[in-house]
Amino acid sequence: MNNYLICPSILSADFARLGEDVAKVLEAGADVVHFDVMDNHYVPNLTIGPMVCQALKADMDRRGIQAPIDVHLMVKPVDRLIPDFAKAGASIITFHPEASEHIDRTVQLIKDHGCQAGLVFNPATPLHYLDHLMDKLDVILLMSVNPGFGGQSFIPGTLDKIRQVRERIEASGRPIRLQVDGGVKVDNIAEVAAAGADMFVAGSAIFNQPDYAQVVEQMRQELAG
Ligand code: DX5
Ligand code: ZN
Repeated sequence: MNNYLICPSILSADFARLGEDVAKVLEAGADVVHFDVMDNHYVPNLTIGPMVCQALKADMDRRGIQAPIDVHLMVKPVDRLIPDFAKAGASIITFHPEASEHIDRTVQLIKDHGCQAGLVFNPATPLHYLDHLMDKLDVILLMSVNPGFGGQSFIPGTLDKIRQVRERIEASGRPIRLQVDGGVKVDNIAEVAAAGADMFVAGSAIFNQPDYAQVVEQMRQELAG
């Protein structure tokens, strides 16, 4: 049960008080900081880069808070930013295969910089990108919305895709994490877990509520079944 990781997406956090808001959500019991990077090119929105990641990591260190920073790169090209995010304190870096000319090289670049590597699938991205990478990936991230914005509705067809990826992970025998991102809330997190996910990204469902601890606790109760 404790294998489940709740990953608040800071896209819905208060950017004017980012350090404080992240500290609050981690104290509320969340596990991983999901850091959404958008470039107004690969996706139609613009967010934050390595400098903010570095500042956030420094703030977490000052506060004595330890939690992995999970950088979700929605940028094209992707390789150039990887060393910067690794230096800025990322523990996990995930990217979209459509944003890389050489997917295996990008995965290797992330690992060479000491981070865990993950591949991200948009709702309509086929799973065949996994065919030659199952022995290298640490995380597979399935988008349950089209990337670019928080607060969208979960696309139900993702559940079947989660089941397919779970089967592939079991067949690989490797401890690959299955993360789901987009429209995850208290009322559907159990269904997402039942389909096979074990990392749950939630932005608006957590940050749009006044009491983060209450939402995180409700999610854990749903996950406990
Ligand atoms: C979407 C981002 C998500 C987003 C999730 O492109 O990758 O991480 O912030 O937000 P919610 O949970 O509100 O759908
Ligand atoms: Zn994300």
